[in-house]
Amino acid sequence: MDQGMIRIFDTTLRDGEQSPGASMQKEEKLQIARQLEKMGVDVIEAGFPVASPDDFAAVAAIASEVRNSSICALSRCRPEDLETAARALSGAAAPRIHLFIATSALHMEKKLGLSPEAVLETIDRSVRRAAGLVGDVEFSAEDATRSDRDFLARAVGVAIAAGARTINIPDTVGYALPSEFRELVAFLVATVPGAREVVFSAHCHNDLGLAVANSLAAIEGGARQIECTINGIGERAGNAAMEEVVMALKVRRAAFGLDTRVRSEEFIRASRLVQTITGMLVQPNKAIVGANAFAHESGIHQDGLLKDKRTYEIMLPEQVGLSEGALVLGKHSGRHAFRSRLETLGYRLSEEELSQAFVRFKKLADQKKDIYDEDLETLLSEGTSGQGADRFRLERLAVSGGTLVPPTATIVLAVDGEERQMAGLGSGPVDAIYRTLSKLTGSSARLLSFTVKGITGGSDALGEVTVRLEEDGRVAAGHGADTDILVASARAYLEALNRLERKKERDRRAGVVSQPVL
Ligand code: KIV
Ligand code: ZN
Repeated sequence: MDQGMIRIFDTTLRDGEQSPGASMQKEEKLQIARQLEKMGVDVIEAGFPVASPDDFAAVAAIASEVRNSSICALSRCRPEDLETAARALSGAAAPRIHLFIATSALHMEKKLGLSPEAVLETIDRSVRRAAGLVGDVEFSAEDATRSDRDFLARAVGVAIAAGARTINIPDTVGYALPSEFRELVAFLVATVPGAREVVFSAHCHNDLGLAVANSLAAIEGGARQIECTINGIGERAGNAAMEEVVMALKVRRAAFGLDTRVRSEEFIRASRLVQTITGMLVQPNKAIVGANAFAHESGIHQDGLLKDKRTYEIMLPEQVGLSEGALVLGKHSGRHAFRSRLETLGYRLSEEELSQAFVRFKKLADQKKDIYDEDLETLLSEGTSGQGADRFRLERLAVSGGTLVPPTATIVLAVDGEERQMAGLGSGPVDAIYRTLSKLTGSSARLLSFTVKGITGGSDALGEVTVRLEEDGRVAAGHGADTDILVASARAYLEALNRLERKKERDRRAGVVSQPVL
């Protein structure tokens, strides 16, 4: 490997999916994988195939479609996991198996019930078996940062001798400090036999808000692969955010002297896609991709920027894919202009998808004078986030509220193709809609979160509503956009309900009573 390059290993679809409530469907994972490939991500960790038939199917689908990134499947050090991972990866152009086992005394004793010697034997046996299945094997020493350093070095040595080409050092519980982590990686690189022949990797969790700092410190210690996720989603407080790691390397290139293959101009699009699919919205002040990341409020700053952008901007918004929100289309724009703008934004739609999107665009243009790139992206994400037939479809909606009449929603809903109508009250208009929808659908889903966001400025802006619902341990996100936020709210709720229905159906077929906790 070129020592001047940092390999970017994305685990949005595996560790990212372990964020509570972020579970994704196969088609959604494929959409994200396509975006990651387009961005130039080196390795896509597509899932943990033995965990469920859905995970297996998603890894297999990604493996057979994506050609320009390695596709990786996670596996415990168990023969059944390994065989399943290899089968899921059989269609991949560049398959990788990622094996892990814990090396800290706490995990070995309490979780695995294995002696340190038994763990070393398991690593040796499993890495050899994996290397017989695929040419590219990665080994992770789970809870590495709380492991005895000398034992960790032995474990890493065994994995290298058995055929692992990448050695990942996870800060599984987000415990390390940057100086310690840098030193740990440097120690392993310097002392473990064969270390110079493999790539060291860092996988940092954000429990102390140090995931990105620790990833950069690992690079200083000699790591040449960083494991990260879009928007930093992941187990508990999340993983290192890819956009932050990559931009730190880019903006501070003089300090690191290292490059990645990632096209940073795709970050905003990737971030929005992951937010739409998971329902996990980033906070406005999130570095790189937050709504305020390039917004300058203070008069002194604005004055400085007008004189010279470099006074208060260390990178250009365009470098991360933030367009100026230029006015692009309107009511009189034709299909040709619409297609051409979408192509410029990187969308390749079939004729049928284009026709459907164009109908939605025309409807929006009747309600909203100026259509910005962000509106188009929202319009498209709304049309592509579903999968399979919907049980519930909104036919008509009327809502009253204000200070004179009690909030009431009257809804006509198609349930399995049959129209049902009902009117109901609530403590506010959205509450009235959601209570009425619950009754009409017979759903007992609980609303976990509800967020409204204006896509572009102005009171005629598209309102984008994201909801997350939970029922029997299953969680699903829904997303709706409309110039009327009450319509957007109803759509978002129904999309989440439709997703829950599909999950229930799949579980019914697989004989699962309620969703297993990972
Ligand atoms: O955090 C962790 O230790 C992991 C491993 C499976 C790499 O996610
Ligand atoms: Zn992790």
